[in-house]
Amino acid sequence: MTTTRRKLVAGNWKMNGLTASMAELVEMCDANPTNCDVIVCPPFPLLGRFVGSAGNSHIEIGAQDCHTAESGAHTGDVSAALIKDVGATAVIVGHSERRTDHGEQSGLIKAKAEAALANGLTAIVCIGETEAERDAGNAEALVTAQMRASLPAGATAANTVVAYEPVWAIGTGRTPTTEQIASMHAALRTALKADLGEEGHGIRILYGGSVKPGNAAEIFAIPDVDGGLIGGASLKATDFLGIVSAA
Ligand code: 13P
Repeated sequence: MTTTRRKLVAGNWKMNGLTASMAELVEMCDANPTNCDVIVCPPFPLLGRFVGSAGNSHIEIGAQDCHTAESGAHTGDVSAALIKDVGATAVIVGHSERRTDHGEQSGLIKAKAEAALANGLTAIVCIGETEAERDAGNAEALVTAQMRASLPAGATAANTVVAYEPVWAIGTGRTPTTEQIASMHAALRTALKADLGEEGHGIRILYGGSVKPGNAAEIFAIPDVDGGLIGGASLKATDFLGIVSAA
């Protein structure tokens, strides 16, 4: 196994930000971090403007969801083809808020990830257990199964990223212990390698859930943590750049 994984820090703005928030992106792009890969995922109406604003910086722009179809009668949905067309390079699929708010299940998420790949986008596939599932003691088996059911056919280190986000750590200020994160990421890595061999070794596994400038370095130092998916702390350039510099 010779592949080295370059760290990736992705910001998920969720349903936050107005046009005035472009100033934060401009500040991030002016800093132009090159120590790791960086992706910022704004809400859909800002996607094209963010791509334009990111310009020639190293920061890439992604979307937060896509439909499985190329086009058609799906009011309110957005295709991976359009995301690609406006110049974004990645799309988050299967975020726990999509799973909860919209009843999305792993089969649908796999199809969305496959639409992303078919359009040349990087799929950031989210998985994670609820607090009840963690308390029940079977989080690793459950999240591993969720990953296997959600990953697209044809997943490679170049086109797919896994984001492990414990639902109970999202927006709560709570994080798992270092041991819990290490153990989950090791279990996911073992499954990826068993299923995909060298590509499974190369696929990046991000941790997400209450990552802040103050805890990022410790989390990113855990084996098999290849970066982070950042919510609240990705909205402000100073916070986000602090996390990026920890990678
Ligand atoms: P927070 O960083 O706000 O906890 O959100 C994590 C997340 O859901 C990123 O997708």
